[in-house]
Amino acid sequence: MHFQSLATALALCSTTLAAQLTQVSNYGGSAKAKPGMWVYQPDSVKSDALVVAIHSCQSSAQKYFANSKIPWKQGSDRKGYVSVWPSSTTECWDVSSKSTLTHDGGGDSNAIANMIKYAITQYKIDPKKVFVTGGSSGAMMSNVMAATYPDLITAVSLYSGVPAGCFVSSSGASAAWNNTCSGGSSTATGQKWGDVVRAMYPGYNGTRPKIQFWHGSADTTLSPNNYKETLKQWTNVFGVSETPTSSKPDTPEKNYRTDDFGPDVEGIWAQGVGHSVPSHLDASEAWFGL
Ligand SMILES: *[C@@H]1O[C@H](CO)[C@@H](O)[C@H](O)[C@H]1NC(C)=O
Ligand SMILES: *[C@@H]1O[C@H](CO)[C@@H](O)[C@H](O)[C@H]1NC(C)=O
Repeated sequence: MHFQSLATALALCSTTLAAQLTQVSNYGGSAKAKPGMWVYQPDSVKSDALVVAIHSCQSSAQKYFANSKIPWKQGSDRKGYVSVWPSSTTECWDVSSKSTLTHDGGGDSNAIANMIKYAITQYKIDPKKVFVTGGSSGAMMSNVMAATYPDLITAVSLYSGVPAGCFVSSSGASAAWNNTCSGGSSTATGQKWGDVVRAMYPGYNGTRPKIQFWHGSADTTLSPNNYKETLKQWTNVFGVSETPTSSKPDTPEKNYRTDDFGPDVEGIWAQGVGHSVPSHLDASEAWFGL
């Protein structure tokens, strides 16, 4: 073989081997909603954990994956875990219809749960290491996933969202925008917000995913009030006080404050930060135990 053609063959070979985002055409399950499923398996898989990274509005799995500010491809490469990238068929995720706000209700949340089940089998994931993250609409969906599929998810780290069930549509419309919630006027007691979560999977008694939520004080898209409402919701679900057990200023960086409410609920308040709070790979991975 000529040197030239050998070099070409080698180049082709390394191109073929480099990991890339790949679509799974049939992930199964009976959900009526059919968002796309994309998977990234790093060249060297060294972990049996799974990270599900859920995109924001007007985005897609491919755009989110290619966004240099979204660090989960880098995390996959560095730590060797598989990541799943759901891709919505609507402008924003459906976090408003009854079907998506119900366990096995057939909506977007059900479809993402099906992706998780497919991934657990296909990529030999430890079912105790299923982690969910997302920004904005993806953060809202992360909260909805925690509420509707507590049996599947181990921990959540979400950036700039709203409480699960806050974007509900009174008409039942799917993927509807909710100005009351986005504007920060959907306020309730922890008990009420907790009931909203419990109603999404009635009778569920098992463990629930640990929740870490980030919000910026200068958010003009999803009012910063949603930080407090999210805090009330998950402290109620876990049966812990709304008063932090510890509060660390300038953590994980200057002007951010990390508030812990026992081991399962953590809020990170980003003073002066708008929409969305940038993903902090190290802090989210630490929350996941990766
Ligand atoms: C918006 O959400 C709130 C709960 O956060 C709900 O009470 C209200 O009915 C919703 N608005 C619409 C127009 O669906
Ligand atoms: C929850 O616990 C109750 C009482 O311990 C039990 O009767 C019920 O079947 C459980 N529900 C589920 C969904 O496991």
